[in-house]
Amino acid sequence: MSAFSAEAMKRAAARAALDSVTHGMRLGLGTGSTAAHFVDLLGARVKDGLDVLCVPTSERTRAQAESLGIALSTLDETPQLDLTVDGADEFDSRLRLIKGGGGALLREKIVAAASTRMFVIADATKEAQTLGAFPLPVEIDRFGARSTILHIERAGRGLGLVGPLTVREAAPGERFITDGGHYIVDCAFGAIDDPEALSARLSAIPGVMDHGLFIGLATAIFIAGAEGVRIIGNISGDSI
Ligand code: 5RP
Repeated sequence: MSAFSAEAMKRAAARAALDSVTHGMRLGLGTGSTAAHFVDLLGARVKDGLDVLCVPTSERTRAQAESLGIALSTLDETPQLDLTVDGADEFDSRLRLIKGGGGALLREKIVAAASTRMFVIADATKEAQTLGAFPLPVEIDRFGARSTILHIERAGRGLGLVGPLTVREAAPGERFITDGGHYIVDCAFGAIDDPEALSARLSAIPGVMDHGLFIGLATAIFIAGAEGVRIIGNISGDSI
């Protein structure tokens, strides 16, 4: 697949999700290249008069939205949102996700949890039978990082998951720091057969701020492929 067609698919998914955005909505704005397409298209609608109030999930997205004249808020001012639209690194048929490839998972999860609905926009290459081909990002406090990493290793091993755990770097020898001031550990566990069990174990580790398994948060996934955009889940927000 060419770079152009991958970008075209991301934009197609973003455009399809934008159809559900209506006047007066409070929106969460995701982070990453797919979410950036959504913000860009939203900016054009705002220029045409659409009135929405948005909470960005990263400083990167904040800067993009600001440059497009999109009205911004914070979760302190606007603690409940109608819809968050975000990308994902992987998803499965049960709407479980791996996120955090862009290093924004903690804020993304907080914003998604504050939203009545979460739409994921992705190209079809992100679809997985079993999550885990994409190394699972885990956001950890800088204090006690080595101990926390040992705990993460143990948590994985308890479920038969072993694989290199790498502290993410922004440049060689320079650790990546999230907007919240934390490190990201990328856990190459391979296939995660029981994401719920791993999620519970990781969440119980004191130094773990949060992890990239998003379970029970996405309400619909817009999957763009060569034949168009397919939707799994429920876009209306009514319970199924
Ligand atoms: C950022 C994320 C992104 O949504 C995820 O990495 C997908 O990014 P892209 O749309 O660039 O593939 O979770 O933390």
